[in-house]
Amino acid sequence: DTSLRTLASKQGLRIGTAVDAAKLGTDKPYTDIVAGQFSTVTPENAMKWESVEPSRGVYDWKQADELVRFAQQHGQAVRGHTLMWHNQLPGWLTTGVANGTIGDTQLRDILHRHVTDEVTHFKGKVWQWDVANEVFANAWETPRADGLNADDFWIGHLGPGVVADVFRWAHKADPKALLMYNDYNITGEDGTNVKFQAVYDFVKKLRAQGVPIDGIGEQGHLDTQYGFDARRYQDDLQAFGDLGLKVAVTEADVRTFVDNATDQVPTDALAQYAQPYEFSELLKGCELVRQCVSFTAWGVYDGDSWIPDTFSGEGYGLLYDVNLKPKPAYSTLQQDL
Ligand code: XIL
Repeated sequence: DTSLRTLASKQGLRIGTAVDAAKLGTDKPYTDIVAGQFSTVTPENAMKWESVEPSRGVYDWKQADELVRFAQQHGQAVRGHTLMWHNQLPGWLTTGVANGTIGDTQLRDILHRHVTDEVTHFKGKVWQWDVANEVFANAWETPRADGLNADDFWIGHLGPGVVADVFRWAHKADPKALLMYNDYNITGEDGTNVKFQAVYDFVKKLRAQGVPIDGIGEQGHLDTQYGFDARRYQDDLQAFGDLGLKVAVTEADVRTFVDNATDQVPTDALAQYAQPYEFSELLKGCELVRQCVSFTAWGVYDGDSWIPDTFSGEGYGLLYDVNLKPKPAYSTLQQDL
């Protein structure tokens, strides 16, 4: 058995994918790959706030529950994604905040209830939670002195203390789940270590204060047009590990420019080498850091990826092509495991 999940299990690592919960059971080739190759799954959208509470006070857990059941049937650990994020919030919440009917005190109560209810609903069924997502400033954003993004929705309304609070609330609801801070550009992908340093200092302080944070999720969204400093990536992962934190690669993909969104053939032939190479560096960094517990790709195949929708002209980011055939990056990971 040379599946990724079997190879990874020999070194105590889980290998995963983001999943479109609606495809499980309905799209057979897709479902077979998810079941056969991966030992952890992350709902790409099904656990986000807009998905689970589309109208105020009315929960819809259906898709997320189905994904959890699928994972249990196939011996897969679930990464819960994500509890506090500025994107994919329900319309009733963003509208209420914008028109002033939801003030900040009430917003805090609403967030507290959301975190408590969602973590409670999945208690004992989620291995890792991405508790807070993307609250630190990138180079093009405005950092506060502590490096948090001054313009982040949650930091702006509730202040920096909310980060510690969401971890406390999540821990209370499920004391056994691993609670992660998840972000991108935190291992030097942007060519600087500014964001890494801010996250590092901040979580170090949280740990010293006894805040229940267990780990760091490095998203791992790479692009072949930018260099990738594999050495710094590994050093940064290790630095988090040395704080006593677990680390995980949570959303790996390596995008490149393509001829068109349907075929997704790289326009630069060299990208066909750069892509497996960068995937390989991402995986090897995780393998070399003892505290790295999982490596997750952000989607199964190029026919179902956020990349063409988000980065104009780009694609080819995942391990399987638009026809669900394994790509060179897949074989490279197999060899590395
Ligand atoms: C993306 C999903 O892949 C898309 O399907 C959705 O439309 C938007 O969100 N960082 C994250 C993920 O933490 O939740 C995002 O997922 C990609 C960037």
